[in-house]
Amino acid sequence: MHRLEFPDDFLWGTATASYQVEGAGHEGGRTESIWDTFARMPGKVYAGENGDLACDQYHRYEEDIGLMAELGFQGYRFSLAWPRILPQGTGTVNEEGLDYYRNLCKELHKHDIKACATLYHWDLPQGLQDKGGWTDRFIVDAFAEYVKVCYEGLGDLVDQWITINEPFCITYLGHLWGHHAPGFTDIKLAVKAIHHVNLAHGIAVKTYRETGLKAPIGITLNLATPRPATNSKGDKQAALIARAVESEVFLYPLLGKGYPELAVQALGVSFPVEPGDLEIMAEKIDFIGVNYYSESAVGQDKEAVFKYSGKPTWHDTTDMSWPIVPGGLERLLTWVHEVAPGIPMYITENGYARQDHIETDGRIHDRERIEYLKQHLEVCTALIKAGVNLKGYYAWSFLDNFEWAFGYTKRFGIVYVDYATQKRIPKDSAYFFRDVIAGYAEW
Ligand code: FCB
Repeated sequence: MHRLEFPDDFLWGTATASYQVEGAGHEGGRTESIWDTFARMPGKVYAGENGDLACDQYHRYEEDIGLMAELGFQGYRFSLAWPRILPQGTGTVNEEGLDYYRNLCKELHKHDIKACATLYHWDLPQGLQDKGGWTDRFIVDAFAEYVKVCYEGLGDLVDQWITINEPFCITYLGHLWGHHAPGFTDIKLAVKAIHHVNLAHGIAVKTYRETGLKAPIGITLNLATPRPATNSKGDKQAALIARAVESEVFLYPLLGKGYPELAVQALGVSFPVEPGDLEIMAEKIDFIGVNYYSESAVGQDKEAVFKYSGKPTWHDTTDMSWPIVPGGLERLLTWVHEVAPGIPMYITENGYARQDHIETDGRIHDRERIEYLKQHLEVCTALIKAGVNLKGYYAWSFLDNFEWAFGYTKRFGIVYVDYATQKRIPKDSAYFFRDVIAGYAEW
């Protein structure tokens, strides 16, 4: 028999993000974000879908939190919608927006669930995009103003803060590959965005320290440590370049190491670093959040932009076509443990997309998702035994939701959402987590 053993103080949580679940797109004083705009651009989001209604969590958070409590979750990672709190991006505060999050946190606490707030999970107010968004340095001050409002309005209720979710997606997917809002495809803009996102994170931590609040603050990175497709010298070098370009440009500045030379060379554009920036980016954080779904194999590719490209693998894949590689989580966290020794880590997202449907017994028997979770949780226990300072795990996602460019076609929830009725139905994986959290993770 397998039995998963976790330390008693290990935090079991589940995660979502504002634009993906809240809905109420035009209510409560919220203005539009870059995702509202992007979703309207022809061909950008599957079938032109958008987050106007999503899972309607804005009106259903009490029911959702009740269900989290029934399953035994101890933490809920949600994100704050900037356009709900500061509708113009800066300036006038919308108290109704803050009240929504105050009520959400209070409801969580009523059920003994910790509130983990991500300050930025991609819904930049459109008004700030119109001024240049992440590509213009003014955004750093705008972010500082926004986070200060959040700390003042919610600081007594939030138990864990995350500054920014997945700088990789904001910068590369949003500014180089065009798959995410704002949909740009320009390496120069992407490199500026990388630097401004890193700076905004640092300013957010600095501003936080000035408030005297004590809850831990960190960042969530979707780091990638691609493995070389073969053991040739060229492929090994390709893997190092990939790691530098995709991960080190975000992780190293946090650790006071600045930008890695390998990445600067591969990108071919220099970062717009000004005096004092390196210190700001390296403001001390309390933890590193890591999102992990998959690992790829890369090889040398002279034709590719950065001289490497992904290679086919033999692994089974999820509905996202992402290869299932639990060993990749081990390699990734071991690497972070080596380069950032002692900094506590949380898995802030991990999960599985599947074409779930309600079966004849009215339930959702998502065996493949459970299998994936078992394998990844086993890796977590092994890492903890090996001395990696892993403090908690947030399952992505609590609910099926708006999966960005894929619209509602990809279901990541451990709870099924019937979008026609907004009915929530816990999938088998939700009951799997109930057992894991209760200490009966065995099979
Ligand atoms: C991550 C995002 C999250 C969700 C998952 C599947 O990149 O942070 O919002 O879409 O992927």
